[in-house]
Amino acid sequence: MQYQITLKSTGETFSADAEETLLDAALRQGHTLPYGCRNGGCGACIATIVSGEINYEDPESVSALEGLEDNQALICQARANSDVVIDSRELDEGLDSLPIEKMPCRLVAKEQLAHDVILLKLKTPDNKRLQFFAGQYIDFILKTGEHRSFSLANAPHNDEFLELHVRHVEGGEFTDFVFNELKEKAILRIEGPLGTFYLREEDDRPMIFLAGGTGFAPIKSLMEHAIFQKDQRKIHFYWGARAQRDLYMDEMAKTWAEQDNITYSPVLSEAAPEDNWAGKTGFAHSAVLADYPDLSNYAVYVCGPPPMVNAAHKEFIEHGLPEEHFYSDSFEFNRQPSSES
Ligand SMILES: Cc1cc2nc3c(=O)[nH]c(=O)nc-3n(C[C@H](O)[C@H](O)[C@H](O)COP(=O)(O)OP(=O)(O)OC[C@H]3O[C@@H](n4cnc5c(N)ncnc54)[C@H](O)[C@@H]3O)c2cc1C
Ligand code: FES
Repeated sequence: MQYQITLKSTGETFSADAEETLLDAALRQGHTLPYGCRNGGCGACIATIVSGEINYEDPESVSALEGLEDNQALICQARANSDVVIDSRELDEGLDSLPIEKMPCRLVAKEQLAHDVILLKLKTPDNKRLQFFAGQYIDFILKTGEHRSFSLANAPHNDEFLELHVRHVEGGEFTDFVFNELKEKAILRIEGPLGTFYLREEDDRPMIFLAGGTGFAPIKSLMEHAIFQKDQRKIHFYWGARAQRDLYMDEMAKTWAEQDNITYSPVLSEAAPEDNWAGKTGFAHSAVLADYPDLSNYAVYVCGPPPMVNAAHKEFIEHGLPEEHFYSDSFEFNRQPSSES
């Protein structure tokens, strides 16, 4: 059964099969609507259902449904029951122009960055480069067909190798494998580029970047891209971590701050005694608010664990940040197998 989906903002239409999510249908037909995790956890894909009916295959498993208004839906999970009109911003800055591809990659380097973070360097096939926007992510496709998402840490101009920062999740199927079994020269299957977290060239406000843990990876990509482009906008980068040993590329971040327009503030929540830490402490998003109690004239890019992204979103909006200048990627974990591997 096919239904017609209409985007209220532009009047454009596309078709959706009753079995596919509204987001999958939109992407398949070249409409890039905002999304993040694609598994119902982050809320980045919320849209208003202007008319028509939708359903969720397993509403219990969709955590971001909590707190949604009656007329709102998570289009990464919602399927159509009828023709539907939705109100969702279409991104028109060229994301559509990048094909989402599946490809094998060779692991050329595996380095321990911190006690629980490993850097993976991947080589795409000869004569093939992955085109992406700084800040986007890729999925690893597991043998079971399940997907695991990881942000690209390199900038697009430096695309000979893809760089990923993988944090070990205790008991996690994929990250256990990466830490304990994965060897250099192994072939891994990836899909990408994915996501709508990227540097907005047209938003000329001063920028605040906020990373929690390995949320540093996409921020590194944004930062290297901004520096490469000689972007003159002011950037204040806050990196939240537990202790100093978790700031696994602290020296690199310090070199960014040698540029006049860039400031770097690491923030530790559980500094170890041996850190002799004299810098900022507590939650990183609270450190942002201590420095910028009025965010109404800023653009903010946030990346990392869902509790940090959610708290930052709520409190930054309360401190005047306009919703449309809050850009985020929430590191939700994948709950369900992908239907299209
Ligand atoms: C868009 C996006 C980008 C991401 N980028 C990165 C990145 O650059 N670096 C990075 O380290 N991670 C990143 N993540 C998170 C990463 O995808 C997960 O940590 C990973 O999928 C875990 O896979 P696993 O097979 O090891 O764990 P699973 O076997 O899937 O999970 C095992 C159990 O561990 C718990 N769990 C799993 N993942 C997490 C988590 N992230 N936080 C808390 N509990 C968890 C759950 O209880 C789960 O049931 C990103 C996630 C998204 C959605
Ligand atoms: S909840 Fe839909 S993309 Fe994250």
